Amino acid sequence: MSDNQATLTIDGKTIDLPVKSGTIGPDVLDIRKLYGQSGKFTYDPGFTSTASCDSAITYIDGDEGVLLHRGYPIGQLAEHSSFMEVSYLLLNGELPNQDELANFTRTITRHTMVHEQLTKFYSGFRRDAHPMAVMCGVVGALSAFYHDSTDIADPQNRTISSHRLIAKIPTIAAMAYKYSVGQPFLYPRNDLSYTGNFLRMTFGVPAEEYEVIPEVERAMDRIFILHADHEQNASTSTVRLAGSSGANPFACIAAGIACLWGPAHGGANEAALNMLREIGTPDKIPHYIERAKDKNDPFRLMGFGHRVYKNYDPRATVMQKTVREVFDALKVNDPLFETALRLEEIALNDPYFIEKKLFPNVDFYSGIILSAIGFPTTMFTVLFALARTVGWVAQWNEMISDPGQKIGRPRQLYTGPTQRDYIPLDQR
Ligand code: SDX
Repeated sequence: MSDNQATLTIDGKTIDLPVKSGTIGPDVLDIRKLYGQSGKFTYDPGFTSTASCDSAITYIDGDEGVLLHRGYPIGQLAEHSSFMEVSYLLLNGELPNQDELANFTRTITRHTMVHEQLTKFYSGFRRDAHPMAVMCGVVGALSAFYHDSTDIADPQNRTISSHRLIAKIPTIAAMAYKYSVGQPFLYPRNDLSYTGNFLRMTFGVPAEEYEVIPEVERAMDRIFILHADHEQNASTSTVRLAGSSGANPFACIAAGIACLWGPAHGGANEAALNMLREIGTPDKIPHYIERAKDKNDPFRLMGFGHRVYKNYDPRATVMQKTVREVFDALKVNDPLFETALRLEEIALNDPYFIEKKLFPNVDFYSGIILSAIGFPTTMFTVLFALARTVGWVAQWNEMISDPGQKIGRPRQLYTGPTQRDYIPLDQR
């Protein structure tokens, strides 16, 4: 990294702020000494102009619509790689050779079972509980079962808990779905791929063999790749902040799942399909476009807009292509796809969306595919959490193994009352 510096003048005092450069992307102003030298904080609610950390995992150029995982473009990974291979890449920084991939896949496969007592947690939930509520509870409980790998100071412990989380999240997710539909849990099978195993645990039943459809397995695996990691998004920042206190990785990932659930973040895929269903047919689109533009109407086009992408989300491009592949493989056709395509076309030609640089994001088309495969909308964010677990784990490992890592503790602009004396109750 090359360093130069910026100069800030406050109250007649000149303060030099080092400027740090990464390998690509915007430089940063190092303000770590600013408060000590000026007695002032910076102010950036929502962190629109704030880098929270160094990271070598994922790079996004929002203006160009570029997404790189350890330098590899998402389009190439989606086309040529697999979720297991991308998981290895995110965790280790390099694409694996054949032996490395085989060993990694075997390790993950052999961690896919969950402690038998964990299955008891599900019966404590209502059958109609939102599966994300179940995920928050069950993943948070993992540290009660795997405390033999929660010594975060030990690299071997970190590796084992990382593998356990990546391996068990599909099993936990499939069980959340099975519980919601009143069907028995299926144990994982070691002869299936990571994604094939998940599809069987989700849609298979003990009464007959489940046949994994290769095109669906490939589409699902690609959807996992598209959701694997995304720089310092809200849920990843949550995982990092939780981890900065030394909390165990299972608790940190549960915190990430909770944050991802929000409709402004990972919950948008469920909200986007519900929105498309509410719109129904293309003739209703203008009404909803007008609602999305109305400052007095809280309605937003779900699956549109992004804090970083001010161009087309490259993941949405792949997702749109995958819709057609799944429709062809399953010989289905959902008219909502035509509604989505028309909505995109109208929005992208509307001055409001053009001026605010609002484009479809990863959540806009994903629901149509997931619905065609057979998932209820309530499972969409669970699938996002399943895939993002490897990104969260990779980012957590990067943070914890940084010798300069400190607990995250932001300050504030205080707007409350100045000091005042207590008033006894009988005098109020
Ligand atoms: C994900 O961070 C990540 O990387 C997240 C993610 C990941 O992989 O981790 O990419 C996954 O969360 C994708 C985003 C999913 N969310 C949605 O699709 C929900 C709908 N989108 C919006 O809520 C919004 O676009 C956000 C939350 C995604 C981004 O919000 P920002 O960056 O805080 O932008 P903003 O809310 O300040 O909006 C800027 C302007 C506003 O108008 P003005 O106040 O300037 O007049 O654009 C408008 C907004 O009203 N706007 C929209 C809109 N999104 C923004 N107007 C209508 N419809 C929308 N979808």
